[in-house]
Amino acid sequence: MKVVIVGKGGREASIAWRLAQSPRLSSLVVTGDNPGWPDGVEVRSAARVQEQVAVARSVGADLVIVGPEAPLASGLADGLQDAGIPCFGPRRAAARLEASKSFAKDVMVSVGVPTARAVVVDRNDPASVAAGRARLSEGNVVVKVDGLAAGKGVFVCRTGQEATAAMDGVWSGRFGAAANRVVLEDRLEGPEVSVFALTDGDRVVALPCAQDHKRLGDGGAGPNTGGMGAYAPCPLLSPGECQSLVEQIHQPVIRELDRRGVPFRGVLFAGLMLTPDGPKVLEFNVRFGDPECQVLMAMWQDDPLPWLHGAATGSLPDGSPSFRDAACCVVLASRGYPLSSEKGVAIPEPPASEGVVTFHAGTRRDSEGTLRTNGGRVLGITGFGSDLAQARSRAYDALPGWRFPGSQHRTDIGASALD
Ligand code: AMP
Ligand code: GLY
Repeated sequence: MKVVIVGKGGREASIAWRLAQSPRLSSLVVTGDNPGWPDGVEVRSAARVQEQVAVARSVGADLVIVGPEAPLASGLADGLQDAGIPCFGPRRAAARLEASKSFAKDVMVSVGVPTARAVVVDRNDPASVAAGRARLSEGNVVVKVDGLAAGKGVFVCRTGQEATAAMDGVWSGRFGAAANRVVLEDRLEGPEVSVFALTDGDRVVALPCAQDHKRLGDGGAGPNTGGMGAYAPCPLLSPGECQSLVEQIHQPVIRELDRRGVPFRGVLFAGLMLTPDGPKVLEFNVRFGDPECQVLMAMWQDDPLPWLHGAATGSLPDGSPSFRDAACCVVLASRGYPLSSEKGVAIPEPPASEGVVTFHAGTRRDSEGTLRTNGGRVLGITGFGSDLAQARSRAYDALPGWRFPGSQHRTDIGASALD
């Protein structure tokens, strides 16, 4: 099978690494640079949707796997499917589950999926702005930019003053049209889990639940980031509970989209909070999480290709994919992250260690062949093994070999699961 992967971060590097082990893979083409691509990968350059479709067409792709949300929100799956090329990732109309938080709310409310109560504010509708201002003044509210904001459009506020300031900030112009609508959600409390399901638009198959660590510092201190590490499986949910959440959340949402004429093919990722009143959905993503994907790929035991291809073609295999016991990914970030990122710092490359794979995210190789930092999240050091303790210690034992000047990492990825 000829496969194209769109995206060039740690998530896509992990998909490429895992697919490179598939006996069904005949060629792998990618559309961006990553020094960690497996051997034999062909790199073509393509940025916009039409260019990506042209690459897929010219290589005769049997499957295109789209890693990030932005190309899906721009209609890449539509362009590929119209060209007769199977795409793992939904069409634009279904990608709105991630690209519009008010759309996701509307879908959830219409099928009774548990989620935080919310008020949607439309900037051009004075009555809704007045209702929004009243809600802000009550405090304990989360201000969410409706459109895609690269993870920077959510503000968790306790006081009314903080909330009003957040809303003013959101409307100061920085988010542009993405903030024409804003969702004001009740602030919830509890641990967060990432629940993934593959779907071909009809069948829905649960994957292991994972946990991300979004804050920069140990114990959840410091600013929000794209994710400083992840592990799976998450002991807060048994495999049976994970399966039943998929039946209560993913399945009705996918049925509802189908009813609205927008079938979903790919992976649906629900970010949940386990509140004292039960699990509630904070957000939907229409792609794998980063760094949760690194963990899922390190754990994936049977061949993932029939599953990804089956989701893209409306023919998911029967049963469920099989997974190793556990994996743990620790992110090494550059100095200054998440506000900035120091680029060009040389990164040592230690020899491989057993049960560990290091995925590149923000790296580049210079003309002399030295590996250098080139972004905020630089590497994802991912251990796997027969239990979480082993997976975790493998990742943390390998990590010092990769540290570079100014590197930052958390020391507690997966620690709470071992208490
Ligand atoms: P989102 O992009 O909607 O998942 O929000 C990013 C982060 O903001 C989540 O991972 C949570 O930590 C936090 N968050 C989002 N919604 C809420 C909520 N209703 N209550 C408390 N925290 C939230
Ligand atoms: N790790 C969270 C995300 O990918 O959105």
